[in-house]
Amino acid sequence: MTYTPFIPEKTSESVAVYPGTFDPITMGHLDIINRGLTLFDRVIVVVAVNSSKEPLFKVEERVEMIRECFPDDADRVETDTVSGLLVDYAYTRGAKAIIRGLRAVSDFDYEFQLALMNRRIEREVETVFLMTGFRWIYISSSIIKDAARHGGDVSGLVPDHVCERLRQRFMQGR
Ligand code: COA
Repeated sequence: MTYTPFIPEKTSESVAVYPGTFDPITMGHLDIINRGLTLFDRVIVVVAVNSSKEPLFKVEERVEMIRECFPDDADRVETDTVSGLLVDYAYTRGAKAIIRGLRAVSDFDYEFQLALMNRRIEREVETVFLMTGFRWIYISSSIIKDAARHGGDVSGLVPDHVCERLRQRFMQGR
């Protein structure tokens, strides 16, 4: 069989979207964004709706916490929100890829499903999986919120300003 190479057109700027609930952003998410920036010219961090979750922070608060992480990289890291289909958003923003982080094998089933569904809806957007740094494989936003809710020290697992927001939020609830 003769192989006919398919060479896609090179776009001038490579853009990826990194979606998630980010309730709140953690060092694990930041690790993935930094890895993404070594591969793409620009990463758009998108606070998206996961209909099965009830977030602690409002969308605007989550966006603010993400923006505070990148005061100097504003041209390479953008933060936005999406309320509709993620792939439609990625396509209209000219993004070629959706970045997702993988921590453990347990992430795979869900990520596989999500990636295939996204591809079925929009074939021109690829999903790229990046391995989270080893020291973040056990954390998630939920486990951090749970620890913080019960007065546990989560410093080092989230940026300082996020740590402070968690502290304030749970003090209000007491
Ligand atoms: N480090 C630490 N934690 C990580 C991580 C990393 N590198 N990568 C993922 N996680 C954690 C998150 O903190 C989160 O924890 P939580 O469940 O305790 O909140 C969990 O893993 C997975 O969350 P996240 O990466 O935020 O994804 P999500 O499942 O909340 O988001 C969306 C899924 C939002 C991307 C998906 O629902 C979506 O695309 N929605 C838009 C609507 C749409 O297009 N739907 C159709 C999809 S086919």
